Amino acid sequence: MIIGWLARSGIFDTSCQRESQRSICALIGHFYYKRSAKMVVSMTFRIAVANEKGGVGKTTTAINVAGALAAAECEVLFVDLDAQGNGTVGLGLEEQYTAEERSLYDALININTGNATGIGDLIYEHKEFDVIPSHIDMFNAEADLQTAMRGRERLWMLFESLTGCGDETNTTASVGNYDFIIVDAPPSLGMLTDNVLLACRNVLIPALAEASSQHAVNILLDHIETIEAGYGIGIDPLGVVLNRIEVDGEANRLRSWFDSEFDSLPLWEIRNRVALKRAWANGVSVFEHTETTDMDERFEKIAEHLLSEADADATIA
Ligand SMILES: Nc1ncnc2c1ncn2[C@@H]1O[C@H](COP(=O)(O)OP(=O)(O)OP(=O)(O)O)[C@@H](O)[C@H]1O
Ligand SMILES: [Mg+2]
Repeated sequence: MIIGWLARSGIFDTSCQRESQRSICALIGHFYYKRSAKMVVSMTFRIAVANEKGGVGKTTTAINVAGALAAAECEVLFVDLDAQGNGTVGLGLEEQYTAEERSLYDALININTGNATGIGDLIYEHKEFDVIPSHIDMFNAEADLQTAMRGRERLWMLFESLTGCGDETNTTASVGNYDFIIVDAPPSLGMLTDNVLLACRNVLIPALAEASSQHAVNILLDHIETIEAGYGIGIDPLGVVLNRIEVDGEANRLRSWFDSEFDSLPLWEIRNRVALKRAWANGVSVFEHTETTDMDERFEKIAEHLLSEADADATIA
């Protein structure tokens, strides 16, 4: 709430230099975390980063939002549910992507066999946050989940196995002491994306600043409505990350369209910056990368909003 107020009051925008702004954010994040430790730590806010359109910046957004939340002293788990494993490899877990050991794929598919429940053993430490990597076998998951019992609820069940509690309606329980779980979804509307949406119930939507984004976002939101109706649940869009903005008229046009169609949905703009690619190539978010970029502040703003949403969620629960 404090962070939201500071953001609204413009203090973040105007009065702080970049470095001091970052420390203030970390300090406030720390204060916020401590102040509301009972609320935030007792619950885990789960966020799907999804858009069925390929190459719009889902993985870039997921990594950098996870990095921003970690920089604000939050405990974060990054889960890669995309068979391509771009997030996994990008975060330096290339070996795990093809390893022989039990993987996220095995955990999703063999959930009913006694010795295969849980994902605690699939968590790897990264400099900034924890990661559950994807695996090349995930390319089989779409077909396997189609015929599996409760094939769309597998990820949710795995998250519950981290809490040790099995209340089907409870999506706000503590999940392994994480404040946030960020799940990178694949570029499709198949079983895996449905798993991500059902397990998280909150969705952050990256979209390119181009005309085809309108169509893609409409399809995603229609799909979310179908899942909501089918399962009798709510899935909340948290906002749109308008990504790879260039200096042309397209971004303005898209911004107007989003504002008119979804007037209460936050919209953040991320510019086309090679530093984002280089951070990824170094296996980290921009918050751990040595090169500075003006986009750090944008990801901090997204993190501030997510913190306030998590706070509101915890208060309601
Ligand atoms: N703001 C940006 N500036 C520069 N490059 C970017 C930006 N956002 C994404 N990219 C680059 O664009 C490519 C696609 O981004 P990314 O992999 O995040 O998209 P995606 O939606 O996850 O793709 P997929 O649908 O294949 O999973 C990557 O090479 C990434 O480094
Ligand atoms: Mg991706």
